[in-house]
Amino acid sequence: MATSMDILIFFALAIFAMAERSTPATPGDTFLVPQSRDEHAGVREIKLASAISSQPILLSRDGAYAWKFFQSYGNATQRLLVVLSTLFNTTVVWMANRDLPVSPQATLLVTPLPSPSLVLRDADGTVVWSPKVANISAIVMNSTGNLFILTGGASASENPKWQSFDEPSDVLLPGQYVKPAHTSTASLAWNDWRSGHYTLRADPGGAVLYATFDAQQTMIPYSVLNYIISNTSFTASLHSACNHTSILYNADATGVTLLQQGNISAECLQEDRNSVHGVKFSTRIAGDGFRYMRVMPTGDIDSFFLSNSTGLRVDNELFKGFYSTYCKLPSYCGVNGVCSSVQTCTCPELFQAMDPNDPTEGCRLQTPLNCTIFRQHKFVQISGAYYFANAYVPPRKIVDNPTECTDLCLENCSCTAAFYNNNTGSCHLYDQIRTVEFGTSPQVTAFLRVAALPSTTTYNGKHYQGRKVTLTSDCSIV
Ligand SMILES: *[C@@H]1O[C@H](CO)[C@@H](O)[C@H](O)[C@H]1NC(C)=O
Ligand SMILES: *[C@@H]1O[C@H](CO)[C@@H](O)[C@H](O)[C@H]1NC(C)=O
Ligand SMILES: *[C@@H]1O[C@H](CO)[C@@H](O)[C@H](O)[C@H]1NC(C)=O
Ligand SMILES: *[C@@H]1O[C@H](CO)[C@@H](O)[C@H](O)[C@H]1NC(C)=O
Ligand SMILES: *[C@@H]1O[C@H](CO)[C@@H](O)[C@H](O)[C@H]1NC(C)=O
Ligand SMILES: *[C@@H]1O[C@H](CO)[C@@H](O)[C@H](O)[C@H]1NC(C)=O
Ligand SMILES: *[C@@H]1O[C@H](CO)[C@@H](O)[C@H](O)[C@H]1NC(C)=O
Ligand SMILES: *[C@@H]1O[C@H](CO)[C@@H](O)[C@H](O)[C@H]1NC(C)=O
Ligand SMILES: *[C@@H]1O[C@H](CO)[C@@H](O)[C@H](O)[C@H]1NC(C)=O
Ligand SMILES: *[C@@H]1O[C@H](CO)[C@@H](O)[C@H](O)[C@H]1NC(C)=O
Ligand SMILES: *[C@@H]1O[C@H](CO)[C@@H](O)[C@H](O)[C@H]1NC(C)=O
Repeated sequence: MATSMDILIFFALAIFAMAERSTPATPGDTFLVPQSRDEHAGVREIKLASAISSQPILLSRDGAYAWKFFQSYGNATQRLLVVLSTLFNTTVVWMANRDLPVSPQATLLVTPLPSPSLVLRDADGTVVWSPKVANISAIVMNSTGNLFILTGGASASENPKWQSFDEPSDVLLPGQYVKPAHTSTASLAWNDWRSGHYTLRADPGGAVLYATFDAQQTMIPYSVLNYIISNTSFTASLHSACNHTSILYNADATGVTLLQQGNISAECLQEDRNSVHGVKFSTRIAGDGFRYMRVMPTGDIDSFFLSNSTGLRVDNELFKGFYSTYCKLPSYCGVNGVCSSVQTCTCPELFQAMDPNDPTEGCRLQTPLNCTIFRQHKFVQISGAYYFANAYVPPRKIVDNPTECTDLCLENCSCTAAFYNNNTGSCHLYDQIRTVEFGTSPQVTAFLRVAALPSTTTYNGKHYQGRKVTLTSDCSIV
């Protein structure tokens, strides 16, 4: 097997073979862009790598991180430009073009003087990715896993104008920050690395997790992890008087730290008075190994430990630690799924599992809705229903009773679910819902639109629109 030094030398050669003049070999973790016209003479552009190559473009000094092209999951014709941890087993820790995979004929190149920049160009000439830095002088694959770009002549100074740590994909490495305006977005699924439904962002009040399900990309917050605000109200956390927070995955991988930017205002100090340290993320697996944190495709944040002796282990599950249940994850049981206290996914009555083998896939109606007769539709009722979006999405209307709420839903065939809060009168309507947690919000009742109720349920009972017949311990029919 080739050692890392072999690979470095090979690459230094490969890189400079493209340019017409050779340059003294550089350490394999750094690519120095030729700066003088003399060195550059006759060279239009410097090709760093072709996407078909599986060789590292740069390798960190200790060999632990490689910058390279990587075959996109399950598709031999798609390539992603990634930073890969090579320790023990490979882990993709950063992706340049997760939503725009390139063909194997794509090239990574440095454009010519007078202002060289880095460009990933697909076979058809499309520029797929290019960091907004002109006149680059060096590209470094740092031993921390940070890929960075230097400008100007002072290649000795480590003052990156661009760094992969500032554009996280779904993985955070020890020492990496999520700064204000930066986000880390989960992958769609474990085997689909395109941007998925969940985003971590550093907001004034803390580390906020957002869910995005609709075509308009509306970001609905579902969790605030903070230690600033003693008041547990999400809304209060989201409108904190505190300055922007940065989220740091501690360099020693012991956990997450929230840092305030700038001076802390008097208002913020007041919020801090009864400080509750919400974010707890201690390392549970002792020993030496590779650690990283990932925003999971399910919307959780997990940290991992990997070593030769242990293999890959989940070290901590932040969401589970915070809420002691996965049921509060927006889509733990998928579309229309019901999550019970023991984190079991079931389908509401008159719904069926989309995939009988995977209850987390969600549920669909047994009988599809026919919109030409939309006013005749009925509702299945789930009492004590917690739904993540109700806390943030304004209610459609404040109403006097549940019938008014379901009537509002009936008016529009695209409405498939209504939530009525008998404490506040809030009526929330949704075109599509995700997971409903059963039994934890006594004052809220969910109404799921169905074509018709079974004829066996047409008698006896209190009513709005018929009667209540308990069909299972979890759900009931109105
Ligand atoms: C693989 O990617 C190509 C190019 O994007 C696409 O046309 C093809 O359908 C994909 N194949 C599979 C199996 O996803
Ligand atoms: C590069 O890695 C070293 C440790 O090896 C670290 O001290 C330095 O801050 C890193 N630089 C950047 C820009 O990430
Ligand atoms: C690029 O950087 C070099 C080295 O610092 C400098 O001499 C040159 O003027 C810069 N070119 C442009 C177009 O800024
Ligand atoms: C918590 O926040 C809510 C809404 O911002 C506010 O009405 C309430 O007084 C606060 N409670 C405490 C104990 O600060
Ligand atoms: C936030 O920080 C800036 C810069 O440090 C400061 O000028 C501002 O007053 C701070 N605002 C709050 C609300 O703390
Ligand atoms: C922060 O507060 C200190 C002491 O009050 C002050 O000297 C400094 O200028 C402030 N910095 C900013 C950025 O506001
Ligand atoms: C892990 O195991 C591989 C294969 O046995 C070995 O080459 C490597 O040096 C080991 N790494 C560490 C850090 O022990
Ligand atoms: C690495 O992957 C191989 C093959 O998938 C597996 O057998 C091995 O246990 C893994 N090693 C570690 C340390 O995870
Ligand atoms: C929808 O209902 C109308 C009126 O009863 C009926 O004519 C039509 O066939 C139904 N469509 C479907 C797809 O069932
Ligand atoms: C009906 O649904 C459509 C599509 O979601 C929406 O644009 C419209 O505002 C809804 N109308 C009512 C009355 O809710
Ligand atoms: C609200 O609903 C819950 C459960 O659905 C019920 O236990 C409670 O008595 C209701 N409260 C009122 C005021 O109707």
